[in-house]
Amino acid sequence: MEVIIRPDADAVAATAMDFVGRLYARKADPVVGLATGKTPLKLYALMRASGLDFSRTRFFNLDELVGLGAADPKSFRRFLRDNLLDGLGAPDGNIRLLDGSLQDLEAEAEAYEAALKAAGGIDLQVLGLGRNGHIGFNEPGSSLGSRTRPKTLDRDTLADYGEGTPRFSITMGIGTILEARSLLMLATGEAKAEAVRRIAEGPLTSETPGSALQLHPRARLIVDEAAAARLARGDYWRWVWQNKWRVGQ
Ligand code: GLP
Repeated sequence: MEVIIRPDADAVAATAMDFVGRLYARKADPVVGLATGKTPLKLYALMRASGLDFSRTRFFNLDELVGLGAADPKSFRRFLRDNLLDGLGAPDGNIRLLDGSLQDLEAEAEAYEAALKAAGGIDLQVLGLGRNGHIGFNEPGSSLGSRTRPKTLDRDTLADYGEGTPRFSITMGIGTILEARSLLMLATGEAKAEAVRRIAEGPLTSETPGSALQLHPRARLIVDEAAAARLARGDYWRWVWQNKWRVGQ
């Protein structure tokens, strides 16, 4: 995985936007996977303001809480509509978000995997990182080969979300995420520093689901200085970033 250390959250978003721009420069109809959470908000604001043509993009998302209707303010569908998708010019038929309000979640998971396949797979998957190292709602202990499925939330995750949050979710699996052609994980703030260290420098283990990025040939982890604070090889990554252009990447 490539670790890119930027000074602050604004610079993280700007660098992430740069990679999104590069994708659109070579593909007008990409398949993009979205993440919910506070971290990608600045990137989503830049995407909205970018002037890029999103009308041919097919959008998917990582995960959703169970039992919430699409209009519920806690639902991830609502969040993505409010913070990115509404006003982006993508037709509804191009947007496939996980529906956690359905009775048969196993069937929804299967249909979702089939839709991903029919779309030809994801070109770029945006990811956040849980404090416990989760990606999507793949909590510690999730199989590194897991597929889209219903998943019970960890107590740490519930504590982060606060009172009244459903205990169950439906999430793309780690195996599903790893099939995206490129991964763009964002992490900012000191609360994420330990999780960042574990996924970038710790062992590959289902105890740290984000460490699965170590298996991916095109995974970028963009962090601010606060989230990079515990990296042993931070200096190396700063050096790489400064010198990258010399090798033409
Ligand atoms: C949540 C979501 C993830 C998200 C992560 C980080 O639990 N399931 O998809 O990326 O935690 O959230 P935040 O960016 O708000 O820190």
